[in-house]
Amino acid sequence: MPNAVITGTGHYLPPRIVLNKELEQSCDTSDEWIQERTGILQRHFIAPGQTTSELGLFAALEALEAAGKKPADLDYIIFATLSPDVLFPGCGCLLQSRLGVENIPALDIRNQCSGFLYGLQVANALIRSEAARTVLLVGAEVHSTGLDLSPNGREVSVLFGDGAGAVVLEAGPQGRGIIRVEVGADGRHARDLWCEGPGSAEHPERITAQMLLDGRQYPKMKGRLVFRHAVQTMKSSLLGVLDAAGVSVGDLALLIPHQANLRIIEMVTRMLDMPPERVATNIQLVGNTTAGSIPILLDQSRRAGRLNEGDWLAMTAFGSGFTWGSAVIKW
Ligand code: UT7
Repeated sequence: MPNAVITGTGHYLPPRIVLNKELEQSCDTSDEWIQERTGILQRHFIAPGQTTSELGLFAALEALEAAGKKPADLDYIIFATLSPDVLFPGCGCLLQSRLGVENIPALDIRNQCSGFLYGLQVANALIRSEAARTVLLVGAEVHSTGLDLSPNGREVSVLFGDGAGAVVLEAGPQGRGIIRVEVGADGRHARDLWCEGPGSAEHPERITAQMLLDGRQYPKMKGRLVFRHAVQTMKSSLLGVLDAAGVSVGDLALLIPHQANLRIIEMVTRMLDMPPERVATNIQLVGNTTAGSIPILLDQSRRAGRLNEGDWLAMTAFGSGFTWGSAVIKW
């Protein structure tokens, strides 16, 4: 049975940088508060006209180049996002067309901050079952057009940024690549971090003038509750997958955690007794890019020379749903 090996990574961040200072003007917030409570200094926002599938395209082209592959070599596309260009069809189909390939399957994943890890599990299963040999997995978000940048939305809006990351996965030898991926969900917490509209649960239309006035088109979060669950769940999910893979925390050359809040990452790092220098972060410069978070940081870490062949790498994420996931990879 083949193993799924990551053979190429790429990312794209739109050029416009938004400093905390800029948000002070509309959000009734402060650079000091954002830095102290989240670690974030800046994030990237798209230019008018850019879309999630376009960000995904740029990341995908980089990943393909790194893998030495052409779009025509792909036989499956998986696209994780909570901010698709349109309600339907999914960004996977839009990306397939942008890449100029035809007929191969294009699957969208709607699992928010855990979307990349859900996608990794699917890609792994496809390759191991020999249903696919070369899979493109993209995580991309455009948050900036869906944030309440007034004082009402300040708790959520200061956290998020736009961006995309991508990986190419190929069939490879046993003992290398994705060793184990585990994901989970607890839908009882669906309303603790969610965005209601537009949604088919609304009558008579999916989005009404009243909904817009009430700000129900914007994400809402019970911040402290999500924070508590994120710390506990990322820790237990990661320990679970490490145990199942027979790998210890001490074996890890690098941990790539989802970038939601630097304080969450620091707490998880402490609880795992992990040396901070072996934990990758970029939230300071990109904020929370949800499904893009892990693949962007993976690509930056690889290009910075932080991963060597044979290293043990782990990833962990938690987000809306609640959903979570962790993976162990032999690089
Ligand atoms: O990626 C998906 C998963 N998401 C997460 O994991 C995020 C989890 N939650 C968090 O990261 C944190 O809870 C937040 C960053 C959202 C909030 O930080 P906190 O330290 O938990 O703050 P808090 O909600 O306890 O609020 C403390 C104070 C409040 O004022 P009072 O009631 O103490 O007067 C808030 O109104 O900070 C106020 N506040 C702000 N002040 C300035 C909330 N947001 C802001 C803001 N600027 N942007």
